[in-house]
Amino acid sequence: MSASGIEGSDRSIETVVFSEARIAARVRELARDISRTYAPDDRLLVVGLLKGSFIFMADLVREITVPHQIDFLVASSYGSGTVTTGEVRLLYDSAIDLTGRAVLLVEDIVDSGTTLAWLCPELESRGPRSVEVCTLLHKRRETQNPEPRWVGFDAPNAFLVGYGLDHAEDFRHLPYVASLKSPA
Ligand code: IMP
Ligand code: MG
Repeated sequence: MSASGIEGSDRSIETVVFSEARIAARVRELARDISRTYAPDDRLLVVGLLKGSFIFMADLVREITVPHQIDFLVASSYGSGTVTTGEVRLLYDSAIDLTGRAVLLVEDIVDSGTTLAWLCPELESRGPRSVEVCTLLHKRRETQNPEPRWVGFDAPNAFLVGYGLDHAEDFRHLPYVASLKSPA
């Protein structure tokens, strides 16, 4: 699919970085591996971080064959534009009791790791049997703590949009992941 002519409010698409077909193939691989890792007894709870994970989450859970339940969280990290400050807050929290559950947190993209560094200990404090992370994209895999167990793709150090990822709320609906043109 051509990315030309896709316009947001003040930026436009440069190139398709991960195509729809490539994402679909990788999502199937991730789901196969996740399905082999968990047993029905683990009472898997797949938790998507909104809004960025919504398309990835929908595609992923339809390929996971072990029985599981689904929930969402909304976390907000403060900062302006594309820079995070390190402060994270839950705007919407799960009402499901995590005690004894295998929790799989689904993220769109990990950059500095700030969101996960705050969220994983928070979820672990609720007595789950395990907390693992599956992220579609990862920008700086070598420097991360906690380390996501499943990573779809290593991402280039560019601002990416589409397949759930936004720039100022634009571009989430694109079926592929693309980079943005630099501001004029
Ligand atoms: P971290 O806390 O620095 O790891 O940032 C993770 C969050 O920042 C992601 O869940 C996204 O919401 C956002 N983010 C980081 N890089 C990008 C990007 O290239 N495009 C869109 N959102 C991004
Ligand atoms: Mg996000």
